[in-house]
Amino acid sequence: MEVFTSVQSLRTYLDLQVTLQKSIGLVPTMGALHEGHITLITASTKSNDITVCTVFVNPTQFNNPEDLLKYPRTLDEDLEMLEKAGCTVVFAPSVEEMYPEQPVMKFNFGPLETVMEGASRPGHFNGVGIVVSKLFNMVKPNRAYFGQKDLQQVAVITRMVKDLSFQLELVVMPTVREEDGLAMSSRNRRLNDKERSIAPHIYRILESAKNELLAGQSVDDVIESAKKEFSNIHAFTLDYFEIIDRFTLMPIKTIGPKSTNAICIAVFLGPVRLIDNVIF
Ligand code: PAJ
Repeated sequence: MEVFTSVQSLRTYLDLQVTLQKSIGLVPTMGALHEGHITLITASTKSNDITVCTVFVNPTQFNNPEDLLKYPRTLDEDLEMLEKAGCTVVFAPSVEEMYPEQPVMKFNFGPLETVMEGASRPGHFNGVGIVVSKLFNMVKPNRAYFGQKDLQQVAVITRMVKDLSFQLELVVMPTVREEDGLAMSSRNRRLNDKERSIAPHIYRILESAKNELLAGQSVDDVIESAKKEFSNIHAFTLDYFEIIDRFTLMPIKTIGPKSTNAICIAVFLGPVRLIDNVIF
């Protein structure tokens, strides 16, 4: 496995691979890797000759300086996991390497960024758009892999690829969960034992809301009862609970065709903000 920290060395290596007609898969991450990230790597290794995993805690997508500071950084363990998973190339640049200058241009994703994560974290999707488009230009992948866990990120990047004509295929992989249903996340390691034992309620409540909707209960009733469930568990502070069309991200009043509907949630558990969703 090759590890690069400079854009120039990465480009030189990848240019050679392109002349050898190798296909390239890109898996962008912020490190602190877990099995969720590894499914993206595995999927990429199956379809591409070269898999490039990027490990970069991107400051431009953090609107909360404390969250950026506390974001776990575990490069040595990450490299070990990536090597085992069959990753070919790791790109782990410094902030100065990625941003020799603070970018002046901004992404505006319109209605896709005024809801949910975008509403709660102003500027977040501008930062995601900037870093992902830089990585697309640096790596020029044939395929790029993202997790459904970040549903709004998938919607935003799907539009960015269309709107800017990036020549690549987006591959979206299902959310990987712990045995008790908690969606794997780098942030889970910041939960204390008590918070960790409460966290599986997030997925339980999502699943029961989904089943109530499928059984014909109204969207308003389901939202009300889910919110009540969260307020009964005092460790939780609900940020949002939305029932939406997963492509437009707009709230829905009636359920649409199969796999176009999604329930999305963001919740604070102590100081840690967790997100999850189900699609149906
Ligand atoms: P990060 O949170 O490290 O996630 C990297 C990729 O792993 C994302 O596509 C995310 O959706 C996916 N992922 C995370 N948890 C997952 C899980 N439990 N199951 C399946 N996939 C999962 O998302 C980012 O980083 C950043 O915003 C990034 C795209 C790298 C831009 O900085």
